[in-house]
Amino acid sequence: MAHQQDGLFPQPLLKAFSVLIFHILLKDVCNGQPQLIGPSQALVARAGDDVILPCHLEPAYDVSTKTLEWTRSSLDPRFVYVSRASQELEKLKNPSFKGRTSLFVDELKYGNISLKISKVKFADTGTYKCFIPDLEKEALVKLVVASDAATSPIISFSGIDKNRGGVVLQCESAGWYPEPELLWLDGEGNLLSAGPTETLRGPDDLYTVSSTVTVEKRHSNNITCRVQQRNTNQSRETHIHVPEDFFEIPSSSSAVIIGLAVSLALCIMLLILSVVFLVRRKRKHLMSKSLINYYF
Ligand SMILES: *[C@@H]1O[C@H](CO)[C@@H](O)[C@H](O)[C@H]1NC(C)=O
Ligand SMILES: *[C@@H]1O[C@H](CO)[C@@H](O)[C@H](O)[C@H]1NC(C)=O
Ligand SMILES: *[C@@H]1O[C@H](CO)[C@@H](O)[C@H](O)[C@H]1NC(C)=O
Repeated sequence: MAHQQDGLFPQPLLKAFSVLIFHILLKDVCNGQPQLIGPSQALVARAGDDVILPCHLEPAYDVSTKTLEWTRSSLDPRFVYVSRASQELEKLKNPSFKGRTSLFVDELKYGNISLKISKVKFADTGTYKCFIPDLEKEALVKLVVASDAATSPIISFSGIDKNRGGVVLQCESAGWYPEPELLWLDGEGNLLSAGPTETLRGPDDLYTVSSTVTVEKRHSNNITCRVQQRNTNQSRETHIHVPEDFFEIPSSSSAVIIGLAVSLALCIMLLILSVVFLVRRKRKHLMSKSLINYYF
């Protein structure tokens, strides 16, 4: 018994706490206060699809006479759909959703206020809120409109990094939405540290990403460029095998060239020196001869 008293919280506090929680639960359930339920995960759709953003009251509750709102806070005006007593208030709606959103009127009596959005666009990506002002209930629904036009990454050889004795590779992939991340991996799947990823956004809203990396010989030579989008679980990758002589030829050939240049310069210098030396000796010889002639 004594042990049970030694808990982290004193018993009276714990009791008060559980009573409080019980009251909160009791209030919502027994006052007939249903909860609005949205999906637990983000919805992923393709551009051009029709999608349903699920949102319903539990337990079921007739909302056909209520004001119902769908909004997205990043929009101005933020209303995606508003209705009062089953009549849409179109004037409030953001123009970008004109003619594209609707509720299922027959479902309202069951508390189902799911929203249909027709022909979704990339720009429809965002977090939506369904809201019933009378009940002060709301739920959030996350929508991601993904592109299915992503291209496999293309790896190209972009030069030699003489300082590090490495090969510089470039990778590019286009047609992404939402914005993806680009990773370089070595043959063992280790992340390589690369330059910053450059991101371009085309007029069609789609992203093109590119990045360069310097691969050294120690990285093993099977290199992967992976482009991935976590929200949509999309991933594309390309492998490249960098032949070993790519690392060796440039450095060794430059060494040979430098060696050749140095020995050539030395040879020329020696040649010049010996010529000068010979000429001088000859002159001295001649001069001494002529001096001799002069005096004697
Ligand atoms: C709400 O209505 C939509 C459209 O008919 C339907 O797809 C969805 O399953 C309904 N939700 C519930 C919880 O009944
Ligand atoms: C390179 O590595 C990838 C996995 O990282 C593997 O699928 C591929 O077969 C490898 N290629 C070569 C040539 O070893
Ligand atoms: C992505 O993958 C994870 C785990 O594999 C899964 O739980 C999740 O539902 C997937 N998401 C989508 C949008 O497919």
